[in-house]
Amino acid sequence: MKSEDQLIKKAEQAVRSKKEKVESDYYRLNYHIMPPAGLLNDPNGFIQFDGDYHLFYQFYPFDTSHGAKFWAHLKSKNLVDWQELPLALAPAQSYESHGCYSGSAVDNQGTLTLIYTGNVKDENNRRETYQCLAVSKDGINFDKLGPVIENQPVGYTRHFRDPKVWKKDDDWYLVIGTQNTEKKGRILLFSSEDLKDWQLLGEIADSKINGLNNIYMWECPDLFTLNGKEILIGSPQGIKAAGDLYNNIYQSGYFVGSLNYQTGEFDQQDFAELDRGFDFYAAQTTVDKKGRRILIAWMGVPDQPENYPERANGWVHTMTLPRVLELNQDHKLIQKPAAELKKLRKEEVSYHNLKLKNEKIELNSISGDSLELIVSFNDLNASSFGVELRASENNSQKTVITYNSKNEKLTFDKRKSGQGEAGTRSCALKNNGDLKLHFFIDTSSIELFVNDGEEVFSSRVYPDPASKKINFFAENGSVKIKEMRKWKLS
Ligand code: FRU
Repeated sequence: MKSEDQLIKKAEQAVRSKKEKVESDYYRLNYHIMPPAGLLNDPNGFIQFDGDYHLFYQFYPFDTSHGAKFWAHLKSKNLVDWQELPLALAPAQSYESHGCYSGSAVDNQGTLTLIYTGNVKDENNRRETYQCLAVSKDGINFDKLGPVIENQPVGYTRHFRDPKVWKKDDDWYLVIGTQNTEKKGRILLFSSEDLKDWQLLGEIADSKINGLNNIYMWECPDLFTLNGKEILIGSPQGIKAAGDLYNNIYQSGYFVGSLNYQTGEFDQQDFAELDRGFDFYAAQTTVDKKGRRILIAWMGVPDQPENYPERANGWVHTMTLPRVLELNQDHKLIQKPAAELKKLRKEEVSYHNLKLKNEKIELNSISGDSLELIVSFNDLNASSFGVELRASENNSQKTVITYNSKNEKLTFDKRKSGQGEAGTRSCALKNNGDLKLHFFIDTSSIELFVNDGEEVFSSRVYPDPASKKINFFAENGSVKIKEMRKWKLS
């Protein structure tokens, strides 16, 4: 038996042995991608191939820690119903002995081709990195072709990983995260005619964002064109919190700019975080046959194991929902939940024109732990107002979303959400006289799209199963709920 097959068998067995415990966990999600057991982290190889969407992810089947990663594999016709496929990559070869790390997928004339990082550590914990190819004709079974880039170019350390590849005209391009020998983060751009022989074009991001100069590593870059601009996505490590910005241990965000493909120069504007919530990292995009640029991310962050109590039940982490990206006139990325998600909607309940004045109310049939809720506020004459989600009967447990119309700030408050990380995340949001909050609530997650994708907050939450109330409030004045719509999601 091939060593890959042996490892995959072991992985499947480990998953089976934990199945009962994992499935007994209330915090298993209803409509998000999660590992069958063990650990999920970065989305990898996101692509539409032969009509189907394929998504792979970093997977450690044996434990809820970050061990030698496999690539798990799912496919879907509609971005909503995902079918689990056999594990695509197992870390069986010498050039990937400590993990088939993150990477991407391309369609090379009908061959689904994965480009990923083979991670190796020797007896002295010295790292080696190999950028590797694996190919498939049927989109299910992969043959490894081995390394095409061995270790890093001169001037960089072996923190050199996460290739994202795309084609422009007749050439292939690759962005990859790394660190230079001064321990400063860099994103490098390479090109190739055949996916095998790669030339370094240059550095397209350094250790600075917005006047801060602490980045020691960039992980999981991505680069694509939207509305004639190049968008460079990346996950920097080393940036310290600054007010409401950069409050998670590591961030995931983007630059808008112009890439000169000849010189490899990237002329970039400020860096902006993609998400304002607690749990968001390693975002990856693809473009589909409809021309949509779709993003999906790990709804988690590295190096914070205590934040995720489902570990006690033998599994950890989930993906965000897929979001469609647009670039607005101010060069800001707008993120909208994929329209296909409407397929999950059941039993609509709606309300119109409710005035809230110095009060907190609940509404018939508006509660639950697996639902979509859209609330449009206007006539904003209260100093603050908002929504409490996953609230308990006695109101001691709740996740509170508050808009402060005086200081123009939206806050996601997880201090009383239950288990897991406690704290708040906020972002500036102009008071334009109305506010639309669009929530996707699952058993242990909340994703909030603000004003049709102007901001997004993604967070895991761990309230008691019985905490299912939703309350609406206005303080120091009144607001109107112009419209509210709610669906159960299954
Ligand atoms: C980001 C990351 C990547 C690496 C992968 C390993 O979360 O650290 O840089 O390829 O995870 O699982």
